[in-house]
Amino acid sequence: MNQTYINELKNHIGEAVTLKGWLYNSRSSGKLVFLQLRDGTGIVQCVVFKGNSEEVFEKAKALGQESALIVHGSVKEDTRSSIGVEVDVKDIEVLQNATDYPITPKEHGTEFLMDNRHLWIRSKKQNAVLKVRHTVVKATRDFFDNNGFILADTPIFTPAACEGTTTLFEVDYFEDDKAYLTQSGQLYNEATAASLGRSYCFGPVFRAEKSKTRRHLTEFWMVEPEMTYAHLDDVMTLGEGLINFIVERVLNDRQEELKILERDVSKLETIPQNKFPRVHYDEAVKLLQEGFANGELENNFEWGSDFGAPDETYISAQFNQPVFVHHFPAVIKAFYFERDKERPELALGADLLAPEGYGEIIGGGERATNLEFLEKQITEHNLPRESFEWYLDLRRFGSVPHAGFGMGVERATAWMCGIEHVRETIPFPRMLYRLKP
Ligand code: 4AD
Ligand code: MG
Repeated sequence: MNQTYINELKNHIGEAVTLKGWLYNSRSSGKLVFLQLRDGTGIVQCVVFKGNSEEVFEKAKALGQESALIVHGSVKEDTRSSIGVEVDVKDIEVLQNATDYPITPKEHGTEFLMDNRHLWIRSKKQNAVLKVRHTVVKATRDFFDNNGFILADTPIFTPAACEGTTTLFEVDYFEDDKAYLTQSGQLYNEATAASLGRSYCFGPVFRAEKSKTRRHLTEFWMVEPEMTYAHLDDVMTLGEGLINFIVERVLNDRQEELKILERDVSKLETIPQNKFPRVHYDEAVKLLQEGFANGELENNFEWGSDFGAPDETYISAQFNQPVFVHHFPAVIKAFYFERDKERPELALGADLLAPEGYGEIIGGGERATNLEFLEKQITEHNLPRESFEWYLDLRRFGSVPHAGFGMGVERATAWMCGIEHVRETIPFPRMLYRLKP
């Protein structure tokens, strides 16, 4: 393939190259046309000089935004350019001249951009977010692969709920049968971990969340490690390792993109190799109550409730770095949590709250090992017993302490990018009021 990619141009100064891409933007002034050409790897300015060829000059002037082009030219050093080069155009092949591209360089509303998401992803910032997401995913896989975890994918069609019945998507599954789209691979992970020792799954999960917040999607990607012969502390240590690894990788590999996103990287640079504070739920409640007394929080937090977004933001702001909160009241948690021996009203769960208001990015804990306890939990949570028989087998045959967590890729990516809403961190977001494009 005769093509040089834009991100490699700086190695080809003085050479003739062929670029293949799309017209991002253009302007002309008298005898020159400046074409901003993009090819996925970057954007480069291509200069067409009327004096070189009148025909090429006229062709360049007539091109609409997002026209598909092959550009032949030579690479010139240019210190004013962010990529250090520009291209002197010799000839242009027009594969398609596009007219009236709907997303112009002016400002557009979010709804409009979301309706045109299939085109919006071509813009500079969206392209940068997708690359950061790629690095978050790659770093996540590398972290687990390098630390003895085996990838074992879990099913998407499932017969029962993992994270409570209120957020289940139901689908018809042949004759009179119902299936649910998985909310989490955890229950199956517990089975694969009993085979492999340490396993992880990584895939899309679904939540019929009626929440319209900047942190919620109805379809999102979750990585879930599960470890046998492990406890609550191991969950926090593993989560800390993962986040440190991801932040370091993103800072290393995505400098260009973080610049495009105008990310204040000083907020991330303090993180790698850090130990994150581990705060007991009781302590977190005290902090929140102080926050209310100081007038920094609007509502007084009561012991036994679940954190709202302002609570999470407040807690993490007290530490200015990611914070684990652990030992939640069992009543606000799923059925499968192991209980604290001294205080059985507490679940051995831990959530990691990201700084800068990004909220919970990791949720997990230690799983209950006792058969009778789980049987009781299933009944109390009104879960269909027959769908959980296989899960109970894991306690009948070789039950051991085990623990794990889930990290949401979109929340982690939004935090890395420093962007407001998770909807921009996945190519095609699914939300309460959005199923297209
Ligand atoms: O805390 P959650 O619900 O935990 C579980 O599903 C466990 N079964 C995981 C496990 O232990 N294997 O979800 C885990 C993470 C959250 O911390 C958050 O990052 C993300 O998944 N998450 C969402 N991301 C986007 N939109 C939503 N609606 C999300 N719900 C959870
Ligand atoms: Mg959670």
